[in-house]
Amino acid sequence: MYKIAIAGTGYVGLVTAVCLASKGFSVTCVDVDADKVKAMAAGHCPIYEEGLPELMKEHRNNLTYTTDYRSAYKDADVVYIGVGTPEKKDGSANLDYVRTVAEQIAESAEKDCVVVIKSTVPIGTNQSILALLQEKAAKGVTFEIASNPEFLSQGTAVKDTLHASRIVIGTQTPHARKVLTDIYEAFGQPIVNTDIKSAEMIKYASNDFLALKISYMNEIANLCEITGADVQDVARGMGYDPRIGNKFLAAGIGYGGSCFPKDTKALHWLANFNDYELKTIKAAIEVNENQKLKLLKKSRKYCSSLQGKRIAVLGLTFKPGTDDLRDAPSLQNIPYLLESGAEVFAWDPVGIPNFKKLYPNELQYCETIEEALHGAELCFIFTEWPQVKALDPAVFVRQMASPVILDGRNCFDLKAMEALPVVYDSIGRRAIRNLAK
Ligand code: UDX
Repeated sequence: MYKIAIAGTGYVGLVTAVCLASKGFSVTCVDVDADKVKAMAAGHCPIYEEGLPELMKEHRNNLTYTTDYRSAYKDADVVYIGVGTPEKKDGSANLDYVRTVAEQIAESAEKDCVVVIKSTVPIGTNQSILALLQEKAAKGVTFEIASNPEFLSQGTAVKDTLHASRIVIGTQTPHARKVLTDIYEAFGQPIVNTDIKSAEMIKYASNDFLALKISYMNEIANLCEITGADVQDVARGMGYDPRIGNKFLAAGIGYGGSCFPKDTKALHWLANFNDYELKTIKAAIEVNENQKLKLLKKSRKYCSSLQGKRIAVLGLTFKPGTDDLRDAPSLQNIPYLLESGAEVFAWDPVGIPNFKKLYPNELQYCETIEEALHGAELCFIFTEWPQVKALDPAVFVRQMASPVILDGRNCFDLKAMEALPVVYDSIGRRAIRNLAK
């Protein structure tokens, strides 16, 4: 059994660590955040992710948490790098954390070691990290590098890792390929072996393709609104074609999260840097930026001013099943609502603590959906939480002062809404206007 260390305990690093531990590997998780390490060592899962706390607990004997990278990397056979590559101002990926970890591995490793980059990194990064490792190697060890991109989605990260659609392994030495193949044998998933640059590209090309698919559907949705077609029927009809597939066709208020916004911009930046214009991805980014403001534009049809209006917001996170707010539509819309003088009453089952860190006093946080809706003149739906989708739509009529519902995630059936005295305007579907002016 290989001795494994993992740098970074975010969504990628921690989920990878726990899933490897569940397959019997002994895994040391390294993070710079001492409080987080202490909490994990005490059995607390630092992120909201279905199934992760249970798996962490079940395999705790295979998991060690530490800030002491030297002891973790000293005798590891394999070190995964799973730290963040956040977006820089110009759209490119910030590789500072990856480089720092590489330097720490180089100074600590006392035996030959395969370094596996799981973080999403621009094409060519693995090569430059290998050069850095070799240059800084303090103890005369030999490093090999492998690109092993991550395809997990937040909210289903454990399932996506244990039952991955594919495992991509980019290597340049037979030994590194063997080590990674040995590790992933236990997962029983299809393995795609490639060279390193192709593996790096597979990650970006996959994420950007999905982002493009969403932006495409959002544009079709906008055209549906103009022409009177229904985007959900259109998606249903398209999805039967196996060449298109029925996933990621849901039009809405735009994609958010830690990957699509960052990875589209990073690939676009990389193309530009190489004097190539990635026109499709540029368009996907632009469409998404506009889409995020779609409900605000719609709101102008129903009220000329937001000043003093009581507004309900259902959903703060970028999607259900996570407490992550990164690039969530709520973060673009709520500041605008507040600046316009509206009083915002927000509900989210798990996103409130994170939102509160950014806006401690500017809005009212509600424990129930009913509380958020009570007396509201407008309701914005930003996240399709199951609790929202399961609502009896009559609750809008009962609770709101004037039930004008702007739904960015198409949570409700048009027929159900049609029967009620409401305004219900969603994405790519006909608007229902059953309220007397
Ligand atoms: C994504 C990729 O799916 C994953 O493979 C990669 O490793 C990381 O990025 P994630 O960001 O967790 O995962 O969430 P995902 O479920 O893909 O949704 C991303 C965004 O797209 C969300 O804001 C979601 O609301 C939006 N989306 C998704 C749509 O608007 N329509 C869809 O049909 C699907």
